[in-house]
Amino acid sequence: MKLWGGRFTKETDELVHNFNASISFDQKFYRQDIKGSIAHVTMLAKQGILTGQERDKIIAGLEGILKDIANGTLKIDGSQEDIHSFVEANLILRIGETGKKLHTGRSRNDQVALDMKLFVRDEVVAINALLKNLLQEIYQLMSEHTATFMPGFTHLQKAQPVTLSHHIGAYFEMFKRDRSRLCDIYARMDTCPLGSGALAGTTYPLDRCYTASLLDFGSPTLNSMDSVSDRDYIIELLSALSTVMMHLSRFCEEIIIWNTNEYRFVEIDDAYSTGSSIMPQKKNPDIAELIRGKTGRVYGALVSILTTMKGLPLAYNKDMQEDKELTFDAIDTVKGCIALFTGMLSTMKFNCDTMEESAKNGFTNATDAADYLVNHGVPFRDAHGIIGRLVLTCIEKDCSLDALPLDEYRKICPVFGEDIYEAISMETCVNKRNTIGAPGPAAMDEVLKICKEYLAQKDLCEKEKDTL
Ligand code: ARG
Repeated sequence: MKLWGGRFTKETDELVHNFNASISFDQKFYRQDIKGSIAHVTMLAKQGILTGQERDKIIAGLEGILKDIANGTLKIDGSQEDIHSFVEANLILRIGETGKKLHTGRSRNDQVALDMKLFVRDEVVAINALLKNLLQEIYQLMSEHTATFMPGFTHLQKAQPVTLSHHIGAYFEMFKRDRSRLCDIYARMDTCPLGSGALAGTTYPLDRCYTASLLDFGSPTLNSMDSVSDRDYIIELLSALSTVMMHLSRFCEEIIIWNTNEYRFVEIDDAYSTGSSIMPQKKNPDIAELIRGKTGRVYGALVSILTTMKGLPLAYNKDMQEDKELTFDAIDTVKGCIALFTGMLSTMKFNCDTMEESAKNGFTNATDAADYLVNHGVPFRDAHGIIGRLVLTCIEKDCSLDALPLDEYRKICPVFGEDIYEAISMETCVNKRNTIGAPGPAAMDEVLKICKEYLAQKDLCEKEKDTL
């Protein structure tokens, strides 16, 4: 039975029913749907639109449905078009005539707008929490490796020495921004669309502020046409999730490189690696590759919803039903990827000696050698040229700047003294870089303190979660 059968003289074609139906996926938010209905009837009774008795009967019925779906006694089948129809039909089956009053002053348009918002809001909180776990793991590694030297790269060429703490700290900043984006979305979606009706509100004296407060929203939405057709928060979420995936993917790419035989900076734990069916020696970084690969899928969801929304006239259009599968998929993908990535990172072995050895080769101290000359009065551009020539000499002799004898230095520039070796040692190169944000120990201590304070704070999403 359809909710809207009255005006029709024929049954819907089966293909049409299947094409139109959303129950196979919108059943995912049955909890939110029921929660919204309970708030709605509570408000209807407060406004005298339903009696207290009717309200209690409907709420008891809805709570029964919630319990039965959750414990598996009530199966959501495909006979109904969507979860809204399913719940209403089942309510009528359970409590009879009173159930038919549930939908008073409401449309599926404001209902679905609410359900999706409630669902997304819960997921924003969950993803924010997963990102915090990841940040805790990153912080742990940062604190352990403030003296683990490694090459820093530009163009994937060794550039200047940094520490593992500093390198990984870059990802702390990225995931921190991701969390702040989620909190922004959370704050911006704090308006309740319920009570907007199909598009133009209703003639019943609904108290929309009351419904909003029952559902923990700051206020009701202010334009009923926008309320039923706003999917901005989904676009914002998918954009934020795309950025999370981009960050994870970059980190995965580095791990894949670091895990190669050529680098051997890290070894991914056996529990997070896979083998080859033919090559017995192989241990592949499949998890990192899959996370990198799934990034495309989340970007796809963003482009998909942007394209769906483009050119939609006000107010509700069925096109919007397309927002769900891709959003659910993106959310599941991102949650899975963050959790797996956190596990992979926390079990990964860092070969600190190999990293340090690598930082010592490849002239990562060349800038510091030039700075040495500058400190002895040579203009930087000249110093740059001198060190360039010294690097060429080293390449010819197959040695590092640290191993080049002093007379070779002096041949090119007499300013050099014995103290050049101290000035270009790895320790000096890193330890002297102490402007805030740099890898030097004083700077890193400062940043680690800030990171620790950040992790101790509760952000908007966590605060809200506690009060739910
Ligand atoms: N399944 C629909 C959706 O996801 C629910 C809203 C239906 N409204 C309508 N006017 N047909 O958008």
